[in-house]
This record gives sequence, structure tokens and C-alpha cells, in this order.
Amino acid sequence: MKTLFFSATGNNMYIAKRLGGEAVSIPQLVKNNDYYVADDKIGLVFPIYFLSVPKHIAAFLAKVELECGYLFAVMSCGNYPGAAVNQLANILTKRGYDLAYATTITMVDNWLPMFDIDKQLKGEPKKKIDARLDAIVRDVESGKQCVKRASVVARAATRLLAGQYPGDGMCKSYTVDAHCNGCGICVHVCPMDNITIADDQPLFGDTGISCLACTHNCPQNAIRAKGEKSKTRFRNQHVALAEIVKANK
Ligand SMILES: Cc1cc2nc3c(=O)[nH]c(=O)nc-3n(C[C@H](O)[C@H](O)[C@H](O)COP(=O)(O)O)c2cc1C
Ligand code: SF4
Repeated sequence: MKTLFFSATGNNMYIAKRLGGEAVSIPQLVKNNDYYVADDKIGLVFPIYFLSVPKHIAAFLAKVELECGYLFAVMSCGNYPGAAVNQLANILTKRGYDLAYATTITMVDNWLPMFDIDKQLKGEPKKKIDARLDAIVRDVESGKQCVKRASVVARAATRLLAGQYPGDGMCKSYTVDAHCNGCGICVHVCPMDNITIADDQPLFGDTGISCLACTHNCPQNAIRAKGEKSKTRFRNQHVALAEIVKANK
């Protein structure tokens, strides 16, 4: 089994680890121009952005050739998944793929313009993440067939919110404070190669996706996002910074 994953702050990397098999980074496949994946089972694991499939994942799915007997997807979110499952199923159907299983899981919400990370961490136990993951792992191991499509209400909410996704807009609003020491970690955790260092300071380009990988993973906590609801940053407790660097650089 291969699990193709994208993760900015570790939630989806943790899911990929828990699913077992070989965890394969989607940014690495894209950067190596490697668009062919084959195995008995293939999983797609990534976050939901604005109730939707993130645009860089949709672009990857438009190109990748998948050969497997069982295709499944797990999408993580922080609060509300909207109709992301429907969107993913439509993308894959158009490509001629048979999605056998798709579900969502609610974890810590890393979207700083709306959520205070201290409050998110306090509320984490209520989300019963590991129990939910245990159930998902059992489903995938048994080859369960179930695509949990969203309701009419969720589809309407998605139509309203999806258009508000800022794309690279959030990255454009970042400011860097005096704690920055020019270490370059932000360059390496950026899955879109959107950051360069000039005069020991990061510069943000036009290809960002507002994933907040740089903001949350900066060892100096030096990157401020416009309207951020907390100074506290987040990385999933089961994932090390070096793993995010390896997956996204
Ligand atoms: C740009 C952006 C948009 C997001 N939109 C949603 C959303 O619509 N619904 C939701 O519940 N969580 C949303 N989130 C939260 C993430 O989906 C969630 O924290 C996810 O688990 C992060 O995964 P990662 O740690 O692997 O990057 C959003 C996060 C970002 C960065
Ligand atoms: S990771 Fe943080 S400290 Fe290092 S260069 Fe980037 S902003 Fe500066």
C-alpha cells in the first residue's frame, strides 16, 4: 500500500503514518515530476481548505496516473469538512478512477486567521482523534467500500465559502519580525517553493497556497500572518520538524 500525502503542520503526515504502508509525499512527487503510482492499495491523504480540495492537490490529481485495486481517501479538517468528499469524488470520476472509500477526520485547526491555537489544543481531546483514526485504519485494512458524500446543506455552504480561499493571498500578507535569524527552514517547509532568502530574510513569491507551513514551523516563531488569532503555533505532536522538511522541500 502507498499513501500519498500532503501536510503543512503534521496532521495528515500523522494520518499517513497511522495508515501504515509506504507514506509518499505529494510535493516530492510533483517536484520530481513523478506522476505514476502503482500498488495494491493507494490512499490520498490531505487537508481540506475552505471546504474544498486544496488547489495544488486538485492540480496533482488532474495529472497523476494511479494503478491499484483499491483507491481510498482520508481528508483532515479542523471543524467542518463541507462537501470536500463530493468534490474529490467528482475529480476522480472525471479521471476515470473508482474511489472505493473516502472519509474525513476532524483534528486541530491550523487556520490562524480564524482559530486560536491554544483553544484548539484545549479542545483537541474532545475530537477523539485516535479513536477515529483506529476506525479509519480498520476500514482501509478490510477494504471497506464507502464514500461519505455530503448533504445538500454542506454543498450549499461549500459553494459560499470555497470562493473565499485566498490562494497565495495569505502568503502575501505575511510579515517577518526581528526574531528571524535567516535559518531558511521556512524555505524548506514550503511545498510550493514560494520562499527565497535575501539579506537573511524570507521573501514570499506568487505561488503560495496559504497552507501556513512556514508560519507554524518557523523555529523562531518570527512569521506573523495577517489577522492571526494567536501567537501560539502548531505542529502535530507525532511529527518532527525534520519530517515536514523532508516531505515538502
Ligand atoms: C488555507 C486553509 C483552509 C482551511 N480550511 C478549512 C475548512 O474549510 N474547514 C476546516 O474544518 N478546516 C480547515 N482548515 C484546517 C485544516 O484543514 C486542518 O487543520 C488540517 O488538519 C491541517 O492539516 P496539516 O496539519 O496536515 O497541514 C484550513 C486550513 C488552511 C491552512
Ligand atoms: S524559518 Fe523563521 S527564522 Fe528561519 S528564515 Fe524563516 S522566518 Fe527566519
